[in-house]
Amino acid sequence: MCDGVTLERVAQDHGTPLYVYSAESVRTAYRELDRAFAGHPHRIHYAMKANSSFMIVRLLKQLGSAVDANSIGEVELAMRAGFAPADIVFSGVGKSPEEIERAVPLGLKAINAESGGELERIDRAARARGVRARVAVRVNPNIDAGTHPHISTGLHINKFGVPLEQAAGLYRKMLTQPGLEPAGIHVHLGSQIVTLDPMQRAAAAVVRLAQELRDAGIVLDHLDIGGGLGISYDGSHVPTASEYAAAVLSIVKPSGLAIAMEPGRFLVGAAGALLTRVIDLKDAPGGHHFAVLDAGMTELMRPALYGSFHRIEAVTPRPSRELRYDIVGPVCESTDAFAHDRAMTPLEVGDLLAILDAGAYGSAMSSNYNRRPLPAEVLVDAGRATMIRRRQTIDDQLALETRTGD
Ligand code: LLP
Repeated sequence: MCDGVTLERVAQDHGTPLYVYSAESVRTAYRELDRAFAGHPHRIHYAMKANSSFMIVRLLKQLGSAVDANSIGEVELAMRAGFAPADIVFSGVGKSPEEIERAVPLGLKAINAESGGELERIDRAARARGVRARVAVRVNPNIDAGTHPHISTGLHINKFGVPLEQAAGLYRKMLTQPGLEPAGIHVHLGSQIVTLDPMQRAAAAVVRLAQELRDAGIVLDHLDIGGGLGISYDGSHVPTASEYAAAVLSIVKPSGLAIAMEPGRFLVGAAGALLTRVIDLKDAPGGHHFAVLDAGMTELMRPALYGSFHRIEAVTPRPSRELRYDIVGPVCESTDAFAHDRAMTPLEVGDLLAILDAGAYGSAMSSNYNRRPLPAEVLVDAGRATMIRRRQTIDDQLALETRTGD
């Protein structure tokens, strides 16, 4: 079930593979985080990269969230979903000239700049239009977030940000760059972080920098502490929103600076499941079995890309002894697998499975590889399931392409 709606019914109505989201789950996570920071000026900027489906972004808007955009496409989507430019921070390790041109005159809350060169390009674009762009320098504090190396961003070996030691110089230089208005400092260590110590050390680093800048007469209005708070994919303990807030606030509060944060996964990760049917079964040597699903890495790439664990549950389990399955997708890549040697009650072709905690970085990272259509999506709210994205068709795909030469 999802909030009173049976998954089998939704799958019958909309087909599989299908993403199903619980609006209530998103609301609960948002409110929990917001309440945890109550008592200190703060703004939650939902990291749209986790799931930028329009109605999910709209739901966050209704809750009072602001957003973090990672491309001009996400900025445009946010504005179409009703966010004011002042509610948007624009991050991203490489902003193209076109993105800078478009972003600068909008009056965003901050463009989170990734290098001295990027600051110069923003300054030039702003001066050419007679405006000042609010900016925050993304600092790279060289702190190990203790997460998967593919989603770790706060070490010097990672491509992200400006080494902490160089940041003060960049802020001082802004005094000679009339197109720039220093608005904040940005730091983001990585994603799916489940220990608070690195977060605290990063917060301490930006607080120290803000203090140094204040002493130099550069007064900021916010510290953007990034996203990264993990969720539990396997039931093990992860920090709660209150533990996270307490850890961060103990360091940031004395600075008096407002907090901006950019959670993605925490808000939507647990809210989504990928529904998929078993389309083939075969025996593998060694006594286990392959279960081939109609969803693959094209719909949920995380296991293929990071070896990520997701719980997989039969929607209607058979009451028999568990067997061991390699649960795989239909794509022509051996890495297209959701789980190896996973104990499951016996499966049959046609069975419906739910791959859990797929609300973040699931649909958002789906692709057309093998000409597979982007999956449909359903949002369940107050016991009603509404399709928020129809399944892509081959005509949708070909609409972008030239087809001459017959
Ligand atoms: N802010 C910035 C600048 C980011 O780069 C990210 C994530 C976030 C915020 C949000 O992080 P979150 O709160 O969701 O952890 N595809 C990977 C995750 C990549 C995260 C990229 N940046 C995955 O499936 O695990």
